[in-house]
Amino acid sequence: MNVLILGSGGREHALGWKIAQSKKLNQLFFAPGNAGTHHLGQNIELNPENFEDVKQTVLNQNINLVIVGPEAPLVEGIVDFFKTDSDLKSIGIIGPSKLGATLEGSKDFAKAFMQKHNIPTAGYLSVNKNNLDEGFSFLESVKAPYVLKADGLAAGKGVLIIDNIEEAKSELKSMIDGKFGEASSTVVIEEFLDGIELSVFVLTDGSSYLRLPEAKDYKRIGEGDVGLNTGGMGAISPVPFADKEFLQKVEDRIIKPTIDGFNTDNIDYKGFVFIGLMNIDGEPFVIEYNVRMGDPETEVVIPRIENDLLDILEATANGTLDQKTIQINPQYATTVMLVSGGYPESYEKNKIITGFNNCTGSEIFHAGTGFLNNEVVTKGGRVIAVTSIANKMNDALKISFKNAEIIQFDKKNYRKDIGLDLQ
Ligand code: AMP
Ligand code: GLY
Repeated sequence: MNVLILGSGGREHALGWKIAQSKKLNQLFFAPGNAGTHHLGQNIELNPENFEDVKQTVLNQNINLVIVGPEAPLVEGIVDFFKTDSDLKSIGIIGPSKLGATLEGSKDFAKAFMQKHNIPTAGYLSVNKNNLDEGFSFLESVKAPYVLKADGLAAGKGVLIIDNIEEAKSELKSMIDGKFGEASSTVVIEEFLDGIELSVFVLTDGSSYLRLPEAKDYKRIGEGDVGLNTGGMGAISPVPFADKEFLQKVEDRIIKPTIDGFNTDNIDYKGFVFIGLMNIDGEPFVIEYNVRMGDPETEVVIPRIENDLLDILEATANGTLDQKTIQINPQYATTVMLVSGGYPESYEKNKIITGFNNCTGSEIFHAGTGFLNNEVVTKGGRVIAVTSIANKMNDALKISFKNAEIIQFDKKNYRKDIGLDLQ
């Protein structure tokens, strides 16, 4: 098969690294890819949100399967574009339809879906300019802290957690007045869930599913979980507190009703479902759905999958996932993200990255990298994910931290406490 992976991060490098090991692979393409994916296949310069350009590449390179990495093209409807185009409709594409992608694109839609299908989640009220007073009353009826979420995509910045009721009311008003643009013209107010977060990942063809390894992500920039939110500074899989009993509850109360809900609601969904969870005293609650894999979670989830990934993705696209089972490596995978100094606020780019050849024992996944004058340079906030595998989490972490030190670029930053809370 010829495969095209859309996206340019560590997630896409990790997916490509695994697919490159498949017996079923003929040629591998990334669009746009990065300096790491360049060694696995051919990088093609295009914007995945420009569907006509994606179409030309698919036809020119005889692509059989497209894997959509990030959410934006999914929320924009790339799967519907393929299914309604006579040249593209027979080509496999991994990702939900536009309606399915609304589970990530609209928090109000996701909450209504969960409520309809009795999936455990925080109590909520959706507020817009027409029911602002109801929003103020709802805030008064729940306990602090107050959770305010922009309904639409807001580059990971649209969730505010506020201790003070007056501040919460004033933020609610400013969100509805456009603090996050159109994304916050509707705001979801939620009850606060007090527990420990983790994420589960599912691959579904719309009727059957495989549960992939779960993972824990480290979202804040600072050690000890302080400071601004990032895309993710590291991840661990498996998650020690997600025992068999807990994961069974997740399957019964969350995963199965979610897939059944796709059917009941006529949501065409062939792709990854990323379910953000809160574990409250052993009981799972959904915080959010994402309609793609996580980054950096992919960098620990994918290396633990023993199956031929292309084989199960092909079955996903063909609707024959019921014929597949998943094999998971029980060892620990850890990843440590090296980021540009200043990230998640402003940072400099084009810093030369060295040390790759001195790293041993880790898989080095590129996130924000590119080439400048034939050298590998930084191109983004999150630059490199250093993934290691070992029987014990601590041993895997030691290898990741050793290589995190060896890779060098000006103003490199990373968290040295990934996984410490889980020991
Ligand atoms: P979301 O974009 O919905 O995943 O929210 C971003 C982050 O805010 C989550 O990863 C949680 O850490 C936190 N969060 C969201 N909703 C809640 C909630 N209802 N209770 C507590 N924390 C929450
Ligand atoms: N690491 C969180 C995400 O991919 O959304």
